[in-house]
Amino acid sequence: MNTFQLGDLTVNRMGYGAMQLAGPHVFGPPKDREQALAVLRELAALGVDHIDTSDFYGPHVTNQLIREALHPYADDLTIVTKVGATRGADASWLPAQSPKELETAVHDNLRNLGLEVLDVVNMRLMFDVMGPAEGDIEAHITALAELQQRGLIRHIGLSNATAQQVQQARGIAPIVCVQNQYNLAHRHDDALIDTLAQDGIAYVPFFPLGGFSPLQSSQLAEVAAQLEATPMQVALAWLLQRSRNILLIPGTSSLAHLRQNVAAATLVLPPETLQKLDQIKG
Ligand SMILES: NC(=O)c1ccc[n+]([C@@H]2O[C@H](COP(=O)([O-])OP(=O)(O)OC[C@H]3O[C@@H](n4cnc5c(N)ncnc54)[C@H](OP(=O)(O)O)[C@@H]3O)[C@@H](O)[C@H]2O)c1
Repeated sequence: MNTFQLGDLTVNRMGYGAMQLAGPHVFGPPKDREQALAVLRELAALGVDHIDTSDFYGPHVTNQLIREALHPYADDLTIVTKVGATRGADASWLPAQSPKELETAVHDNLRNLGLEVLDVVNMRLMFDVMGPAEGDIEAHITALAELQQRGLIRHIGLSNATAQQVQQARGIAPIVCVQNQYNLAHRHDDALIDTLAQDGIAYVPFFPLGGFSPLQSSQLAEVAAQLEATPMQVALAWLLQRSRNILLIPGTSSLAHLRQNVAAATLVLPPETLQKLDQIKG
C-alpha cells in the first residue's frame, strides 16, 4: 500500500475509522463486542496502520475497545483522535470547544486509549454541527498548540473546517490533516483538497462511503459490476485516485467489509470509469 506523511508519522493511505464500533447512534456498547474486538485485531494483518477515533464515540466506548484489542500498541500504529464535542444523555452531540473542555478531552483520550502522547488530535469545529461554517478559531488552536508544547499532542489537525479556518489555524500551529465530509456524491471540498495537496497536508474524508446511508447509484453499481468489484470498493478506489493527499478511514463493524475495503486499495479505475463516476457528482 502506498503511504503518506502525517507530520513525522508515515501511514498507509488505507486506514480505518472506528466510529461504527460503538452502539446504535454511536452511543453505548457495541451490538457485538467480540466482533468489534476482532475487527480491530485484524487491522495489522491487513496492513492498516492508521485508526481514526474519538472519545466522544460511545462516549469512551470506541477508545476503550481500541485499548483492549491493541494495547500495547505496535510502534508503527498511528491513532488519530478528535476533540470538540461531548454527548448528551439522549445521544445528542454537544459542542465542547472552550480551552478547558479541549484540555479535558485530551486527557480523556489519553486515559481511555492508554497513551502518554496523542499522535494526532483533530479540532472538530461545531459552528455548524452538520458542515463547515465560518467562525474564529484562534482560541481553539492556541489551546491545542499549548497542549502540544506540553508534550500531550504530537500533531494537530482540523475537522469540519472551511478553507479560511485552515488558513487561520496554519498561522498559529502546523496542521497535518483536514477531516471533512467528502465522497463521490458530496464534493464541496474539491478546491480545498487541491490546495492542501500542494502543501503536503493530508485530506481525510469522513463518510467516504456515504456514512449512515451508504452511497447508492446506478452508475456506481454498473461500473462496479464491470470491474468485478463492489460499489463500496469502487467508491474507495475513486477517492484514492482523486488526489495523492487523500487518506481513507472507511468505517465498518464487519470483518468481511473490512477485508473488502482494504482490498480496494489495489483497485485501479481506468479513465473511462472515472468519467462515468463523474456523473454522480451531487
Ligand atoms: N470528523 C467528523 O465529524 C466525523 C464524522 C463522521 C465520521 N468520522 C470518521 O470517519 C469514519 C468513516 O465514517 P463512517 O464510518 O461514519 O462512514 P462510512 O465509512 O462512509 O460508511 C460506514 C457505513 O458503511 C457500511 N460499510 C462499510 N464498509 C462496507 C462495505 N464494504 N460494504 C457495504 N457497506 C459497508 C458500514 O456498515 P457495516 O458496519 O455493516 O460495514 C456503515 O454503515 C468514522 O469511522 C469516523 O472515524 C468523522
